[in-house]
Amino acid sequence: MAKPSHFFFALLCCAFLRGHVTAASAPTLAVLYPPDRSVVIGAGFAHMVLEIAPAVKVLVKLNGRPVDPSKLIDKVRHYLLRLDFGTNRVEVEALEGDRVVARDKRELFFFSPISGEQQILPEGFAANPFHRPGGAPEKCAACHVLESPKGDLSPASPAASSCYSCHQDLTKVRNVHGPVSLWMCLACHNPTSAPAKYATPVPVRDLCYACHIDAKDYFFSSPYQHGPTATGMCTICHNPHGSNNEYWLKKPPWELCTTCHTEKASGRHVIAWGPSGNTHPTRGRPDPMKPEREFSCRSCHNPHASNMPKLWNFNVKSYTELCQTCHNK
Ligand code: HEC
Ligand code: HEC
Ligand code: HEC
Ligand code: HEC
Ligand code: HEC
Ligand code: HEC
Ligand code: HEC
Ligand code: HEC
Repeated sequence: MAKPSHFFFALLCCAFLRGHVTAASAPTLAVLYPPDRSVVIGAGFAHMVLEIAPAVKVLVKLNGRPVDPSKLIDKVRHYLLRLDFGTNRVEVEALEGDRVVARDKRELFFFSPISGEQQILPEGFAANPFHRPGGAPEKCAACHVLESPKGDLSPASPAASSCYSCHQDLTKVRNVHGPVSLWMCLACHNPTSAPAKYATPVPVRDLCYACHIDAKDYFFSSPYQHGPTATGMCTICHNPHGSNNEYWLKKPPWELCTTCHTEKASGRHVIAWGPSGNTHPTRGRPDPMKPEREFSCRSCHNPHASNMPKLWNFNVKSYTELCQTCHNK
């Protein structure tokens, strides 16, 4: 009779020990943010925050490329992910020596109208705003201020803004937009919008015009408007926070225009009617009218509006007048 109970005891021990051993060797990995299958807009920045014992080695890969953590605070690790257009795969592996002891993954979709490809949202992906009820994991509040105090409208210094601790990366670009460099985030982001907080109007045009009164006047007084500008979607081309390009453009000017007008990249343009399909330069030399900058599409065309249907600059009244502006009369 003694044998079976010993046997059971041994089994129990075994189960207990195994459980114990597993708990010690497999650390708990918790990816706090972002939710899987989220859509990201804007400049394609996404922050990932995970929790794991400080001693454990973690490898994070974005589309196969390793990403270093941007901040390590005790158990909490922060990573800045700079996404590619379309679907991105993020893999997280906790390692003991060479052995993977815990893993997780995320798929994120970076949507942009200037990706250069038609972007079709894969099934199961959704916008998951962080600033909405249930959007921000409660754990963030242990170290960050999640509500915006009154002073946020016009903070005394960047660090005095409650947005600063998490969104510093926005201003780490060459050209920063005036109100953004002052961390006046609430000049554009509505702190009382619901369900998602900090919403901006769609289309955004009237918000831009509130400060850019001159732009408003000339856009409205010109009879011909460029499609993307006329729709009021200024942020198709401009990053509202700033960028490494002039005028906070999302891409350098020539690349920006040829993203949508792909056929113009060939250079068969302007004098394409000429013998043997002549080409006119569209870049790669100084702009005769503004020699300090590179010649480009915007040397001849206005990106917003014009008095001529082809959106020519210089207020010209005819094709020949356009040519003569640069090719001395
Ligand atoms: C244990 C404390 C702690 C927790 C919990 C925490 N953070 Fe942080 N986080 C910090 C510190 C400290 C910084 C650096 C702030 C600074 O430089 O001003 C930071 C920076 C950031 C940044 C700036 C970018 C970067 O990677 O450096 C983001 C974004 C961020 N946290 C998001 C979050 C989110 C989202 C959560 C909740 C899921 C969270 N944090 C939880 C302490 C924490
Ligand atoms: C705890 C860190 C944290 C703080 C503080 C914070 N944010 Fe965010 N915010 C995030 C994260 C994380 C995202 C998701 C995008 C990303 O991964 O960077 C985000 C996204 C956003 C978005 C895009 C829509 C959304 O909800 O996902 C806006 C707009 C925004 N934040 C504005 C603000 C403003 C304005 C402030 C200050 C009043 C602020 N945030 C403070 C972490 C923070
Ligand atoms: C709260 C006021 C304010 C709002 C709203 C605003 N801007 Fe501005 N913007 C400024 C100021 C001030 C400057 C000039 C200082 C600087 O260079 O940043 C400026 C400069 C610019 C410039 C560069 C102009 C130049 O000649 O160098 C561009 C482009 C621009 N803004 C685009 C936009 C767009 C697009 C929007 C809407 C998404 C917008 N702005 C909304 C205040 C604003
Ligand atoms: C001139 C207006 C303006 C100001 C000032 C501004 N934003 Fe934005 N922001 C926008 C608009 C418009 C969008 C919507 C996305 C788009 O159209 O590209 C946006 C989107 C965002 C996003 C999500 C997408 C992205 O680009 O990453 C975050 C995060 C954000 N803003 C944070 C901030 C913070 C933090 C500040 C203060 C430093 C700030 N914004 C100041 C206009 C502004
Ligand atoms: C997001 C896509 C997009 C981008 C970026 C873009 N365009 Fe356009 N463009 C359009 C669309 C759509 C039309 C047609 C609607 C219209 O006639 O305005 C158009 C029309 C035009 C026309 C007038 C066509 C005609 O027959 O009258 C010109 C000229 C032009 N674009 C030049 C430019 C230049 C220069 C740039 C760069 C500064 C640029 N575009 C960037 C989408 C774009
Ligand atoms: C098709 C892309 C595109 C769109 C859409 C667009 N812009 Fe621009 N914007 C440009 C380019 C390119 C420049 C630089 C022009 C130059 O170098 O002459 C510029 C320059 C500017 C400037 C500074 C110089 C100037 O011409 O006044 C302001 C302000 C501006 N844009 C505001 C806006 C606003 C407001 C909207 C929305 C109503 C808007 N833009 C929509 C491409 C665009
Ligand atoms: C030297 C001046 C000049 C430059 C530089 C220039 N264009 Fe043009 N563009 C013209 C002229 C002139 C026309 C009218 C030609 C015609 O109708 O045959 C035109 C017409 C257009 C049209 C409308 C008609 C069509 O053919 O579809 C678009 C769109 C356009 N250009 C885009 C661009 C883009 C994008 C670039 C830069 C890669 C560019 N242009 C560079 C002078 C220029
Ligand atoms: C904004 C200034 C500008 C305007 C407007 C302009 N061009 Fe040009 N054009 C240039 C530049 C720059 C070159 C290159 C000159 C060089 O390489 O030294 C050029 C070169 C040419 C060439 C020589 C092409 C080659 O392959 O070397 C011809 C032909 C020409 N342009 C015709 C025209 C015609 C026709 C118009 C009017 C529809 C026109 N251009 C309008 C700036 C302009």
